[in-house]
Parts: sequence; structure tokens; C-alpha cells
Amino acid sequence: MRKLFLAASAALGVVLLSGAAVMAQDTPQVVNVYSSRHYGAMEDAFVRFTEETGIEVRLSSGSAQSILERLRAEGSQTVADVYFTIDAGGLDLAASEGLLQPIESEILTEAIPADLRDPDNLWFAVSQRMRTIMYNPETVDPSELSTYAALADEEWAGRLCLRPGTHIYTISLIGSLIANLGAEEAERVVAGWVANQPQYIDSDTRILETIAAGGCDVGLTNHYYLARLLDTDPEFPVRAFWANQGEGETGVFRNVGGVGLTAAAINRDNAIRLIEWMATDGQAADLTGVPGGNYEFPTAVDAPVNEIIAGFGEFTIDPLPLTEYGELQIQAVELIERVGYGS
Ligand SMILES: [Fe+2]
Repeated sequence: MRKLFLAASAALGVVLLSGAAVMAQDTPQVVNVYSSRHYGAMEDAFVRFTEETGIEVRLSSGSAQSILERLRAEGSQTVADVYFTIDAGGLDLAASEGLLQPIESEILTEAIPADLRDPDNLWFAVSQRMRTIMYNPETVDPSELSTYAALADEEWAGRLCLRPGTHIYTISLIGSLIANLGAEEAERVVAGWVANQPQYIDSDTRILETIAAGGCDVGLTNHYYLARLLDTDPEFPVRAFWANQGEGETGVFRNVGGVGLTAAAINRDNAIRLIEWMATDGQAADLTGVPGGNYEFPTAVDAPVNEIIAGFGEFTIDPLPLTEYGELQIQAVELIERVGYGS
């Protein structure tokens, strides 16, 4: 009887508004998310999802590495229904370790291009972030810039700001160098960065602020940190340069924010509803959605792009398959240790 009532309320959905309220009282509609975005803060996109569906999003946050470790440690006991991380390596590792289950959903496969989701539907990318070269236009002419590898040249000695080697952003970028240049050449490049005695700063925002203040001339950060600063101060004196765009070059390094349904999910239907929403309505939601609210590029084909990041100009993306990021990361961590990259 109770089952019947729930099924009927769900089927009638929006029409039976009071029914939804009764449901909420009877069985609170929740979805538990482990997230490595926006530590401690509820994203506007999730607030919007709750308003639209009545499903409460319970967020538990940590670094990309720590939420993966939690999923591993908790196994079938985890309370997480959804794993939401900012790194394709984490998605790939969670998938290959059996921590996620597939979602067969036409909504998802139609919304998200094949290169932005797992081939077995174990995870789906919902935002794209480019890690690229940022520079001070007072001291650097863009004609001096080209590739990540060229930052190993002596001319950049004492002029670089980089994120420490323990951070997932550094690890994933160096993983792509291994894939594109081969392990030996990647090691030469990263050793060259280290020989240039960079300032290691464990915040992309602070790297940009340091460039603006003249503390270094060039840095590597994710694109959206500059967009955020430009939104509050359109005159912020740092420019983005899309790396590796020359002929025969790979394109700029991309990582993704992505979601998967955990193998142990209890609130399975709500989780799928959230994931489908993130891949569709949540891509825009008046640009407060998952990609737009963080100035990231959407993954859904027709989703709008935030105008500040559109202003960074066109670029080519490194087509390195996201399914290779997990294995590359393991190699990158070893390389980082070997060359003495700052932690
Ligand atoms: Fe970030």
C-alpha cells in the first residue's frame, strides 16, 4: 500500500504538490554526495536542484584524493550515493576499482559527448577546466609563450609560480606530459621547471595574485580562477594564454568535473535524477549551474558558455582520453618525487 502510494505520487509528480509534501514527511528524499569542489560550501546548482525536485542534497567535501580514499575505505558501507570529483584520474580509478555502478540513461548519453563519459557509463563529465599559462602583460609578451615544456627554458628562471607537486592539478598536468612527450622527455621538462626555481604556491588564486603583484611573471593555473577574479575586477592585470596551440602541438590540457553513481548507493533513483539534472538543466540554470557557476566550460553539447571565459578566445583541447588519466597519475607522482618538485 505504502509502495503503491509512493509510486503514484512519483508518477503524478508536480501535479500533486501536496502529495510531494506528504512524501517528504514520510520518507525524506535525499541524495548523499561526496564532493571535491568548493570545500564546505553548498553550490547554487544543488540548491536549485532541491528547489526543482524536493530532493535534499547532503554534501560531504574533501580533496580529490581524500574523497577517493574515503570511498575505498568505506566500500559497501559508504553513505555516498554520488561521487563528484574534479579530476578524471579519480573517476577512472574509482571506476576501475569497482566503486561505481553503470547508469543506463538515454538522457545522459544524449547530453554528454562520448569522449566526456566512461565507455561503460560508470561516470559522466559535467564541467571542463583547462590548466594553462597565465602571465603578466607588463613583463611578458605573449609571443614569448608557447608550450608547458618551454617553461623549462632558462629564460624563465626565477619567474615562475607553480602549484606544489602534492596537488592533484599538478599531478594530472604532469601525467599529460608523460602521455604526450614520453616519460623521459616529460622528466627533462619537469626537472627544467624545478631548475628554474619556481615559487610553489598552494592556491591558484594566490598564484594569480602573485603574478598581478609582480612576484612572478608566469604561472600555471586553471582558467576559471582568472575568470572569478575578472568578474570582481575586470581590470585584474593577468592574462590567460592557451598553451600548446602551435602547429603539431597537442592543445591545452583539460581536466573535468565528473560524477558517478556509487556501487553501494542507497538513494539510487535520487542519485540518478541528480546526475541527469547536472548533465542537462544543471548545465545552464541561468549560469549558476555546475559548469557556469564556477566559470567552467559545459560538457553538454548545447549548453551556454559563461561570457568571461568565452572572452579568453578560441583554443584547441588536448584529446588525451580521460580514461588514461588514472594510470598516468600514478606515473606522475613517481616522476614528481624523482625530480624533487616542491611539495
Ligand atoms: Fe579548483
